Amino acid sequence: MKIIHAKDYTDMSRKAANIISAQIIMKPDCVLGLATGSTPIGTYNQLVEWYNKGDLDFSQVTTVNLDEYRGIDRENPQSYYYFMRDKLFSRVNIDTNRTFIPDGMDEDSERACRAYDEIIKRCGGIDLQLLGLGHNGHIGFNEPGTAFEAQTHLVNLTETTIKANQRFFKDDENVPKQAYTIGIKSIMQARKILVVVSGEDKAEALRAAVCGPITPNVQASVLQLHNDITIVADEAALSRI
Ligand code: GLP
Repeated sequence: MKIIHAKDYTDMSRKAANIISAQIIMKPDCVLGLATGSTPIGTYNQLVEWYNKGDLDFSQVTTVNLDEYRGIDRENPQSYYYFMRDKLFSRVNIDTNRTFIPDGMDEDSERACRAYDEIIKRCGGIDLQLLGLGHNGHIGFNEPGTAFEAQTHLVNLTETTIKANQRFFKDDENVPKQAYTIGIKSIMQARKILVVVSGEDKAEALRAAVCGPITPNVQASVLQLHNDITIVADEAALSRI
């Protein structure tokens, strides 16, 4: 496990974007596993900046996102589909036919999950998986207690996660209680993993993930078993390590 110390959020974003850029340059038709949440926004902004300068070409890149809320349609600004289009896809020359996000509107959750596993398989697996970290140590929407063997599945979000997500919704009642997420198994099968962590409120989750026992109670702790993982974290997030 490699831990890269960043000064602050901006520095973290630039360093993470550097790693993603290197992946795209080395393998222009790579498969990127992408994440939502506030942490990767700076990373996406930096990638867009380098794209605008002519340093990056997304035309052959495929992306597979980690998760999506259930019951929120793609045009809803709170959907992860909307987020990805807004923060990255509409700002670079990516072929949107090669961008994948779980279908939150599929009534048949089992079908939605198997279809998404099939997409990941058809892409040939993920070359570089970008991850944020939840306050309770979740990655994607894999909440504490989930079996590490899980593939794409429907999740009942925990109270802490629902609370953390409230800041994005005007009305508390509209915060989704369920989401689709790719499982730990698919994340661990990625060839490289890049985790971005910022802020003191994530320090305890990061400490538990990196220094604590490997346990489903802290989903991110499984990352200790991956053989090519880089964590880029700022000083505040690293304050307990
Ligand atoms: C959500 C997302 C995760 C993300 C986490 C942390 O739960 N499903 O993928 O890592 O939030 O978000 P933030 O970066 O906003 O703290």
